Amino acid sequence: MRPDGFDLVVRNARVATAADVFGCDIGIVGGRIATLGDGLPRGECEIDAAGRIVTPGGVDAHCHLDQPMAPPVRMADDFDTGTRAAACGGTTTVIPFAAQHKGGSLRDAVVDYHHRAEGKAHVDYAFHLIVSDPTPTVLADELPALIAEGYTSFKIYMTYDDLKLDDGQILDTLAVARQYGAMAMIHAENADCIEWLTRKLEAAGRTAPRFHAHARPMLVEREATHRAIALAELVDVPILIVHVSGREAVEQIRWARGHGLQVHAETCPQYLFLTAEDLGIDDSYQGARCVCSPPPRDKANQQVIWDGLADGLFTVFSSDHAPFRYEAPEGKKPGGREVPFRHIPNGIPGIETRLALLYSEGVLGGRITLERFVALTATNPAKAYGLHPRKGTIAIGSDADLVIWDEREFVLGNSRLHHAVDYTPYEGITLRAWPGVTLAGGEVVWDGERFHPRAGRGRFLACAAPMLRPRRG
Ligand code: URP
Ligand code: ZN
Ligand code: ZN
Repeated sequence: MRPDGFDLVVRNARVATAADVFGCDIGIVGGRIATLGDGLPRGECEIDAAGRIVTPGGVDAHCHLDQPMAPPVRMADDFDTGTRAAACGGTTTVIPFAAQHKGGSLRDAVVDYHHRAEGKAHVDYAFHLIVSDPTPTVLADELPALIAEGYTSFKIYMTYDDLKLDDGQILDTLAVARQYGAMAMIHAENADCIEWLTRKLEAAGRTAPRFHAHARPMLVEREATHRAIALAELVDVPILIVHVSGREAVEQIRWARGHGLQVHAETCPQYLFLTAEDLGIDDSYQGARCVCSPPPRDKANQQVIWDGLADGLFTVFSSDHAPFRYEAPEGKKPGGREVPFRHIPNGIPGIETRLALLYSEGVLGGRITLERFVALTATNPAKAYGLHPRKGTIAIGSDADLVIWDEREFVLGNSRLHHAVDYTPYEGITLRAWPGVTLAGGEVVWDGERFHPRAGRGRFLACAAPMLRPRRG
């Protein structure tokens, strides 16, 4: 801390928050924003934003990094490469998942995940939990203790054999969220419907990647979304439905909001920029690159998601970065083989491209305001998961996590990205903006051309209680 002056002044910024856009200089001391004002005295270092837009560093509240998988599958990104990619794409806080194994302890999962992160992260991080085995000990002891220690959100799966909870288990787990003030995130897809459809497709020899979308039609998401809302209503607890893909789930969420229920919603770039056709229009294996759940839908559903981003239905815009290499025996070709869609690791990379995609097509495309962009990508996730106002805004006292935007057109290619994945689903898309500078805690981590590594710069953030109320209607 230098009481006599600023460590850094970002001059001539056009600052965007979730509430306003205004011009000022940003004075930074000790990694935090010390002053916002015009004509600040010279700092030890200076960056001239030259009237460019400056937004809070992104908070990616749904990403998967170095999450243990069943062999041979392994995630390509750990906390080093994953947070490197995040920083280069303007994201300065990540919240990946410490996942309990069925039969294992939640506490052990958290301890293990800290080991995976420590000394590696380039940006700050918090953890969500994944509750896959809500035993009496987990519900009565482990979960309440972990919530008190700053792990104030957890994900509940309604699908995937190794993760899913039945309705009774969901009710028990939601009751803990209510009692201790945690945020429950729900992956809403009906597991039995998916299994039934998958078996029928397999019996007919339809096992190419594109049939993944046939096994997970929108009704399986709609039914599970409806059920999740009903279960949350029964317990009287807020929930957040993650990775909402299209109209039928959106309708359920609008219905819930209209009835005064506290149902938050998240969506992701894949539901704006991909369609089921990206999983293949024939039986080629290339589509495995875009296999994720729920699957991308169609153009009409993309528009429904845009509308929900514009009108406040969605609280949070996350990447759901789930990094698996395509040409790899630990990735999309498990054991080195092109496998039936049931066995393709689910998920796509996107931690680095999340902000630029939404800024380019959302803000510059005239679909959402700049304030809404900031709310969706930084402020709301920070509030939803108890990190605000330290994270997610540009205010005195907040961490100096900032993005200075460069608005220029270019064609996106995987070669310019910094993740450890060998493809991007957005190859060839024309973008109109990219972060020109990313500051994390007042340090330049990305200067528009080069990444400035400092593994261990990123620190663990204990989360406070969630503090968001969704809009009605
Ligand atoms: O397909 C996806 N979304 N994979 C990541 C895990 C999850 O369910 O979010
Ligand atoms: Zn999920
Ligand atoms: Zn996910």
